[in-house]
Amino acid sequence: MIIAPSILSCDFGNIENETKMLHASKADWLHIDVMDGNFVPNISFGFPVLKNVRQHTDKTLDVHLMISNPDLYIDEFVESGADIITVHFEACTHLHRTIQHIKSKGVKAGVALNPHTPVAVLEDIICDLDLVLIMSVNPGYGGQKFISSSVGKVQKLKSLIDSSNSSALIEIDGGVNLETGKQLEKAGADALVAGSFVFNSEKPEETIARLKEL
Ligand code: DX5
Ligand code: ZN
Repeated sequence: MIIAPSILSCDFGNIENETKMLHASKADWLHIDVMDGNFVPNISFGFPVLKNVRQHTDKTLDVHLMISNPDLYIDEFVESGADIITVHFEACTHLHRTIQHIKSKGVKAGVALNPHTPVAVLEDIICDLDLVLIMSVNPGYGGQKFISSSVGKVQKLKSLIDSSNSSALIEIDGGVNLETGKQLEKAGADALVAGSFVFNSEKPEETIARLKEL
């Protein structure tokens, strides 16, 4: 299982040390939640924070863009250190073009689906994707309750990927803990994002190690 702690729940006043802690931990990727106050009802951070994180780790930076018009910012996210760029299906009118743009920059391309968006909308693009991010909460905030129907959605996505011979990874974001993580692992998830479960725990590094054992 790939574990991707979300820095959205870390101590922003101490981001250098938080990044160093994640770098030393068993985390595989660092999940970077970018919110614009338009696509989602919250604003998080942008390029300077990503650049700062990049300076302190060579682990994969998994950038989740919860923004409108992502095409306008892809080049700068790549220059700022992104390794994976995931855009929202709901934010892209010309999704195929956006995905090709991301890949032309030499980074991996992902698509995120909000809880109300069915997996079937990806049927004609699944073979172009490196990753699909299933949102198991409505995007915008950390610490929300896991939407349990997301487990069935992972199973549907797994069938779509297998039947199309796609190599896309399945990542889940929102409300992940040891219990929901186990259900998702059984359903076919490849990668788990965890924010509050990691950073609100007494020992984040140990929590990451426990998730890694799922
Ligand atoms: C939600 C973000 C998530 C968030 C997850 O909009 O995309 O990545 O950090 O937080 P938890 O794990 O606390 O649900
Ligand atoms: Zn996220």
